Amino acid sequence: MGVIQDILRTMDYGPSPEGAEHVKAWLEQHESGFGHFINGAFTKPGNLFDVFNPANGERIARVSRGSAGDIDAAIAAARKAQAKWAALSGFERSKHLYALARHVQKRERFLSVLETIDNGKPIRESRDIDIPLVARHFYHHAGWASLIESEFPDTKPVGVCGQIIPWNFPLLMLAWKIAPALAAGNTVVLKPAEFTPLTALAFAAICVETGLPPGVVNIVTGDGATGSALVAHAGVDKIAFTGSTEVGRAIRKATAGTGKKLSLELGGKSPFIVFEDADLDSAVEGVVDAIWFNQGQVCCAGSRLLIAESIAETVYAKLRARMANLRLGDPLDKSTDVGAIVAPVQLERIRRLMREGEAEGLEFFRANETGPDRGCFYPPTLVTGVDPASVLAREEIFGPVLVATTFRTPDEAVALANNTRYGLAASVWTENVNRALEVAARIKAGVIWINSTNMFDAASGFGGYRESGFGREGGREGLSEYRVADEPKPKPAASHSPRLNASPGLAPARNLVDAGPDRTAKLFVGGKQARPDSGYSYAVLDSSGRELGLAGLGNRKDIRNAVESAAKASSWGAATAHNRAQVLYYIAENLAAREDEFARRLGAMAGVSARAAKTQVDASIRRAFVYAGYADKFDGAVHATRSRFVTLAMNEPWGVMGIVCPDEAPLLAFVSLVMPAIAMGNSVVVVPSASHPLSATDFYSVLETSDVPSGVVNIVTGEANVLAKTLAEHDGVDALWYVGDTEGARQVEALSAGNLKATWTSAGAIDWAKAEGREFLRRATQVKNIWTPYGE
Ligand code: NAI
Repeated sequence: MGVIQDILRTMDYGPSPEGAEHVKAWLEQHESGFGHFINGAFTKPGNLFDVFNPANGERIARVSRGSAGDIDAAIAAARKAQAKWAALSGFERSKHLYALARHVQKRERFLSVLETIDNGKPIRESRDIDIPLVARHFYHHAGWASLIESEFPDTKPVGVCGQIIPWNFPLLMLAWKIAPALAAGNTVVLKPAEFTPLTALAFAAICVETGLPPGVVNIVTGDGATGSALVAHAGVDKIAFTGSTEVGRAIRKATAGTGKKLSLELGGKSPFIVFEDADLDSAVEGVVDAIWFNQGQVCCAGSRLLIAESIAETVYAKLRARMANLRLGDPLDKSTDVGAIVAPVQLERIRRLMREGEAEGLEFFRANETGPDRGCFYPPTLVTGVDPASVLAREEIFGPVLVATTFRTPDEAVALANNTRYGLAASVWTENVNRALEVAARIKAGVIWINSTNMFDAASGFGGYRESGFGREGGREGLSEYRVADEPKPKPAASHSPRLNASPGLAPARNLVDAGPDRTAKLFVGGKQARPDSGYSYAVLDSSGRELGLAGLGNRKDIRNAVESAAKASSWGAATAHNRAQVLYYIAENLAAREDEFARRLGAMAGVSARAAKTQVDASIRRAFVYAGYADKFDGAVHATRSRFVTLAMNEPWGVMGIVCPDEAPLLAFVSLVMPAIAMGNSVVVVPSASHPLSATDFYSVLETSDVPSGVVNIVTGEANVLAKTLAEHDGVDALWYVGDTEGARQVEALSAGNLKATWTSAGAIDWAKAEGREFLRRATQVKNIWTPYGE
């Protein structure tokens, strides 16, 4: 006896490879190379580069490297097709998307095998996760195509979208980009990653099969140079990018000032937090999915294990035992858990980071050191005792490497979780629902999975906070990236950057001491009036050049102080919406009480008639009331995603917002921009109209008498574009609204690339009488999706 026990102990899986003949035959048919897919047809292959199977290093295809001319042709085709595509009824567009979904589903096996051969991911993942999610995405957006007009009123398609995707989920990222763009009435030029272009080309063939009108989808293959030609092309209205933060930053700079809409889904270093009361066996399985799924080449991979000190050794032991059972090898084998790394250069990057970690003396555990003899393989790795300052805790490794750090208290866990420049996702493991939701609320990340990880669905938004990018993909949140307001393009506004000495509104700077302190409106920082750091003021003139008073000439240091005060006022964001509403009502009420005074000031300062001044003050009061009303009504949503999950889409404030106001409508523009921002729980640093700042400085006393907590509204007067520059460069500013001139808008967008803060700029004349509503609230918030499971 004992034989059966022995068999059970030694039992192993035999090889179980998925058949690849049909894919190989297709690749053979295209042995001479693939062309681009432009205007509904494949171009003649040219300027070819090789594509390899990372599991064995064999060349599997040759693909064309797109030139600027190819991009030009693709954009011309997309432009030509766009108006007709947008003019189709929602129902017609819907049928096209539905057909794409059906055909992807029919070819699931082919596409899974092709994806696995091209990318190296285990067939189980491409077959059970990637491709089904692709189909799901097209189905979901087929629905949106017919609902877009009614669900997104007063908007229109953006136009031609340039889309650039990475290699880690090649077809899934294509679906995330193409499905919403098409549903919303846009046409696209998509550039797949150079390592993994093949499923995109197979998808192009599906577009032909389903009869998608030529030019609606165009696919140009190539590398970074092709991508950057797409970004630079003047015919593109929007760029959607997924990839490294470094390239995202370059794209932010390249598109600055062009008016191109931009969404960026970038890197991450997501925490996976395990509290002592977690179900440890489930958490260990969660870790497997978090970091060894797709060899850890996942932007939202749970790559930092933060673990309660008291259970750390127990969990490490369980993990090591589990790692010993992970099968590393042929991705086409149905029982492989960990496949190949996408390319030698990525493998080398992982090895380099490991060498750096080894040089720091960190402790490594690898269960399966020996992978296949050829191809790009790296074993699942656990690194323990990692200091938060270690390179391995900071850098996105993008490989199957888990780094572990312990914590003692929930506060420390949250601090460690947020100790990163990224903010894409987080996993929280605890059986205590209160703790789970509290920690979820405090983590700065776009997606939080409670007792789960790597959950995706087309109905839920996905995207990051901070340097993980901005914009969302999926569901309603993602669709709004592909629509713009349906209104005529505004005329460019007059220059917003009056230099002292050169503008009718601004007189030369002078020393405050000469001016006499009493006549000078100071800055408003941290709830107090403050003298400008420079010690200078400037004269505010009326329309006929007479001096009306003096305003402080703020500088870089004043902006820094104001940002610091705003950051300290973060409890405003945690106040109840009802409390915030009360404060906003109070502001409105106090403004109303001083209506005549504000109207007189406007009349004198901006040279408008008494009637026009009164109209502007009245509109400002009404606007303040409107946002007081909205404060507790701009709800989130519960998305219909997977069964046994509630996916809570919460509208969270950015934190600290910079707001740069135009010269037009000095009071109404100020109120229209500041009120929605604070209604949503942000604290703000506002630069009011440079030429007509006195309505804003008069506003201090309204704020002081309205119970606005100190630091929630900070006001720095001075030259708008100079102060906007400091706001754009400041890493403590999370989002920046700028209304001004073309050069100022460009500057703000380019300089915001530092911490990738979200910007909303306008260089056009705005009709302030109408500048109100949900779009302002949407822009004042970012969505956090919290996936909460239920059931035993
Ligand atoms: P990458 O960001 O260079 O590539 C992503 C896409 O951008 C590819 O299609 C590429 O051709 C294109 N691209 C590259 N340079 C461009 C430019 N200047 N303008 C426009 N498009 C450009 O990522 P890469 O080099 O493949 O991987 C490097 C690291 O980036 C990885 O090790 C990983 O850490 C991170 N990464 C993160 C991803 C994510 O989803 N968050 C995806 C891929 C990589």
